[in-house]
Amino acid sequence: MPTLDIHTHLANLYAAADDPWNTHASPYEQGKFAKTVQSLPRTQYRCALEVGCGAGALTAHLAPRCDYLIATDCTERALSVARSRVTHPHVTFTHGSVPADWPNAVPDLIVLSEVLYFLTDAESVGLAARICQDTAADTDIVMVNWSGDTGGLISGRQAADRLVTDLGHSCECTFSQVCSGFSIEVLRKGSFPRIGQMFSGTT
Ligand SMILES: C[S@@+](CC[C@H](N)C(=O)[O-])C[C@H]1O[C@@H](n2cnc3c(N)ncnc32)[C@H](O)[C@@H]1O
Repeated sequence: MPTLDIHTHLANLYAAADDPWNTHASPYEQGKFAKTVQSLPRTQYRCALEVGCGAGALTAHLAPRCDYLIATDCTERALSVARSRVTHPHVTFTHGSVPADWPNAVPDLIVLSEVLYFLTDAESVGLAARICQDTAADTDIVMVNWSGDTGGLISGRQAADRLVTDLGHSCECTFSQVCSGFSIEVLRKGSFPRIGQMFSGTT
């Protein structure tokens, strides 16, 4: 699906229902958000960026762990629902399509929950570049992906693997959990030598 079609598809979903995935009420979704927050390696983050925040249900779980939280989404209707549900003063909702739009901030936590499989290959490459260039040196990146059929061109597993490939040696996996229906992976940004470099010292 071309990007424009994906955005139209998402806008149509939110036009039909305030919370198309029932994220605020579904026990499955709430359990997933609790596990997502449990996977965070640090107790507190200075500045978090949640990409594709939707109706703000995960945002509400993340807020207590962040001094400042920027939650962004490409769908206006999702944001208006999120703003009405999450009113913490340290949470800011912004409209934008990642990676083309990126906040004027240097996050130390990036949350990518159920959003990576909406991105094109070029957008995944662009997101990896944003993570490399426009985040803090030791940023944590949390990926959460549905393991069933996404209804799109790419599965959650493929989307996570694609981003890991696009990030190359700039990140390492620090946590991985397969749950019923979804998986969580946490990456840590840093400088990680290739195996050959560790033994030979070559570049
Ligand atoms: C399935 S919902 C997930 C919502 C929430 N993150 C969660 O885990 O419940 C995906 C959201 O990502 C948004 N989205 C998709 N592509 C995006 C992009 N490139 N930039 C920002 N938001 C995007 C959609 O509008 C939608 O609200």
